[in-house]
Amino acid sequence: MTELKTYFVWDAGTRWFHWINLLCMLGLIAVGAAILNDEAIGMTNDGKILLKTVHVWIGYIFALNLLWRLVWAFIGGPHARWRAILPGGRGYMNEVRAYVAEFSAGRPRQYLGHNPLGRIAVTLLLLLLLLQAITGLVLAGTDLFYPPIGAWIADRIAAPGVDPATLVPYAKEMYDTVAYDAMRAFRKPFITIHYYGFFALLFFAVIHVLAVVLTELRDGGNLVSAMISGRKVLNGPPADQTKTG
Ligand code: HEM
Repeated sequence: MTELKTYFVWDAGTRWFHWINLLCMLGLIAVGAAILNDEAIGMTNDGKILLKTVHVWIGYIFALNLLWRLVWAFIGGPHARWRAILPGGRGYMNEVRAYVAEFSAGRPRQYLGHNPLGRIAVTLLLLLLLLQAITGLVLAGTDLFYPPIGAWIADRIAAPGVDPATLVPYAKEMYDTVAYDAMRAFRKPFITIHYYGFFALLFFAVIHVLAVVLTELRDGGNLVSAMISGRKVLNGPPADQTKTG
């Protein structure tokens, strides 16, 4: 009979990040999709400003949570650290080859933390989230004059005689036309990245959920509940126990 063993893997910092991130992403995706379709929905300017404001407040929680995770990767538990996340390092390519070979042979190696290919996926996901947070914060400044760069943008585009602190979105009569056009040109690449980042994140989120569910169905184990309790149940020795376990 196979012996099952329980290991503590995901520390509280990682689990809180994961679930707060999921909730924020659901909110950001829903409100972001409404912003994207504002004309089709027949949204007024006030409605658009409200949607963007809600999106930005959720975005602040999302960005702070992400910042916390990036710091936690320096100080958190062994499976939360950069060395357990970033692909590369000594022996990484051998790990990949061994993982792929055993996976193809139908007996995948079990890992406490991320498997070698999972490390590439997590790194890409963190990069995408970071890109989305940075571009979102720039858009919050250029669209709504919100922190961190909103006051600086307002200073630059306020028309002569207008107090920058009183600027409101969509009130073109309050803006200096030349400075406003220059600001729109500066903003353009950020909205483009934010737009494509949205679809890339949607794509990755679907792949991530499918991968977790299929792995759990095929190999057994408890990947989903492990992210709630922190504990993984394995039926064999983990390949990464000596390094991080
Ligand atoms: C998972 C993270 C996020 C997703 C999936 C997301 C998604 C979206 C989408 C789909 C749009 C509409 C894009 C368009 O109009 O072309 C949008 C717009 C916007 N997002 Fe995000 N967003 C995220 C994070 C953030 C963050 C962290 C902030 C700021 C704190 C932010 C601020 C904004 C702003 C200000 C707009 C309005 C841009 C405009 O259309 O004028 N977003 N977002």
